[in-house]
Amino acid sequence: MLATVTSCAVIGLEGVTVRVEVDYNPRGLTSFTIVGLPSAAVQESRERVRAAIRNSGLQFPLKRYVVNLAPANLRKEGPAYDLPIAVGVLAVTGQIPPDSIDGAMFIGELSLDGGLRHVRGVLPIAYHAHQQGVRTLYVPAEDAPEAALITGLDVIPIPSLGHLVEHLYGMNVISPYRRGEDDLSPDPLIEVDFADIKGQEHVKRALEVAAAGAHNVLMVGPPGGGKTLMARALPGILPSMTLDEAMEVTRIYSVADLLSEDTPLVRTRPFRSPHHTISHAGLVGGGPWPRPGEVSLAHRGVLFLDELPEFGHRVLDVLRQPIEDKRVTISRAQTTLTFPANFMLVAAMNPCPCGYYGDPVRQCTCTPGMVRRYQQRISGPLLDRFDIHVEVPRVEPTKLTDLEPGESSSAIRERVEAARERQRRRFAEYPHLQSNADMGPKEIRMFCRAEDAAERLLKAALRQMHLSARAYHRVLKVGRTIADLDGSDLIKANHIAEAIQYRPRRTPD
Ligand SMILES: Nc1ncnc2c1ncn2[C@@H]1O[C@H](COP(=O)(O)OP(=O)(O)O)[C@@H](O)[C@H]1O
Ligand SMILES: [Mg+2]
Repeated sequence: MLATVTSCAVIGLEGVTVRVEVDYNPRGLTSFTIVGLPSAAVQESRERVRAAIRNSGLQFPLKRYVVNLAPANLRKEGPAYDLPIAVGVLAVTGQIPPDSIDGAMFIGELSLDGGLRHVRGVLPIAYHAHQQGVRTLYVPAEDAPEAALITGLDVIPIPSLGHLVEHLYGMNVISPYRRGEDDLSPDPLIEVDFADIKGQEHVKRALEVAAAGAHNVLMVGPPGGGKTLMARALPGILPSMTLDEAMEVTRIYSVADLLSEDTPLVRTRPFRSPHHTISHAGLVGGGPWPRPGEVSLAHRGVLFLDELPEFGHRVLDVLRQPIEDKRVTISRAQTTLTFPANFMLVAAMNPCPCGYYGDPVRQCTCTPGMVRRYQQRISGPLLDRFDIHVEVPRVEPTKLTDLEPGESSSAIRERVEAARERQRRRFAEYPHLQSNADMGPKEIRMFCRAEDAAERLLKAALRQMHLSARAYHRVLKVGRTIADLDGSDLIKANHIAEAIQYRPRRTPD
C-alpha cells in the first residue's frame, strides 16, 4: 500500500515541492526506513513520528515501512517532514479518509506527545504552495499567522496530530486562519528621534540627503559626537516600506528564523549593526543549511558598521560584492544560492587612533603617520562606495543642555518620502533603479541634467579638488538627490555646492 503526501523544502528563499511517499507492507518484518537524501535530523523523524502517533491514541502497527522523499537529488534538512511522514503512515494504515489529503500540503515538526512545533521558512513555503495551486496548507498553529500573509489558499493551524485526524474526519473542524486587519498595516516605530539630537544640523542634513537617495554614508568624528546615536535615528526618517518590500524582507527573516510570533510581517525597515568580530558567514550568510547573513537581514534597510576600521580587511572586502550586486551568492557543494542584499551602508569611525584629530579643543596625540595609517585601514575601493562623507564634530557637553530641540523625525521623513516619490516617477520604466544611489554612469548621464552655472561650478571644483571621474559622477548623483529634496527637475548650482561638501576631506600629507 502506498500513500503520497505533499510537503515542501526551502532552498535559499525558494520553496521546492517534496513528495513524501510512504510504502506499507503489513506482511513485512518490522522496519521503518527513510530514503531520499535525508539529513540526520530527518532520520530522527522516525522516533518522533512513532511516539507522536502512539501518544495521540492512534495505531502504529509494527510492520514494514519505507518512506521515500522525492526528488531524491535534493538534500532534505530539518524536522519539518515529521508531519507529512506521520500523515502518510496514518493514510496507509487506514486511519484517515483516503481522499482527505488531496490538494493539501503538510509541514510541521512533531513533539513526542503529538503536539506540533514551529518550523522556519513558513512564508516561502506558503508562497510556493499558492503558486503550485495547493488549496489547503496545514501548518503548526503558531506558524499560521505567518503563512496567512499569503492569500488565496486556506491555512489550517494544527495544534496536534490528534486534532488533525479529527479535522480530516470532519469532526471538530478547524477553520482556516484569518489574518487580523492590522497584520499588514505598516507602523514605523521610531527608536531615536532626531528631535532629541542637539545641534549637529549639518550631520542631520547629510543623513536626510542620504535617506532621500538611499546613498551610503560615512560619518567621521571624535568619540562622543553622537555618531552612533544619529545612525540609530536614521531608520526613523527612511520612507516606510511598501507591502511588497515588507513581504520580501519577511521571507528573509522567515528563513533566518527571526520572526517573532506576534508580528508575522516585518513592517519596519531593518537596522542591523553587527559587531566587528562578526564572522564571514555571519556577515554574508552560509552554514551547512545556508542562512541569510547580516547583509541580507539588512535588505531594504540599513547596515550600520560602527567603528569601521575595527572590522578586519577580510570582512570589509567581502562587503564589496553585495554592495555592487545588491545580493549575495553562496556556493554549496551541489548548488549556488542567492539572497537579496540591497541595503544602505552607514558607517562611523574616529579620524585617528586617539580620536581627536582635527578637534578644536582637545589635542590629538597621534603622529601624522599614525593618522594616515589609521585612515588607510579602509581601502580606497570601499571608501569610494560612500556617496556621502560627513564630519561629526563633538558638541561640548555643557552646550548640549542649552541647545534647542531639533526637528522631529516624522517632519524630516515627509521630505524624504516626497523626494523618493520623485525618484519613483523618474525611474518608473527602469525597474533596476529604485533610488538615485542605484544610478551608474550611463544613468547619471541620462537623468542628471544640471544648469549651466552648476556645470561650471562642478568643473571648477573638479580641477581645484583634483576630483576623479568617479567623484564627478558621485557629486552629480548626490546633487540629483538634493534637487529632488528641493522639488527641482534641474540640478542647480546650490545643489552642486552642497553635494561637493560631501566629498571626503583629504588625509594629512
Ligand atoms: N548632539 C547630541 N545630542 C544629544 N545627545 C548627544 C549628542 N551627541 C552626543 N550625545 C550623547 O552622548 C552619547 C554618546 O554619543 P555617541 O553616539 O555614542 O557618540 P559617538 O558614537 O560619536 O562616539 C549619546 O548616547 C548621547 O547621550
Ligand atoms: Mg560610537
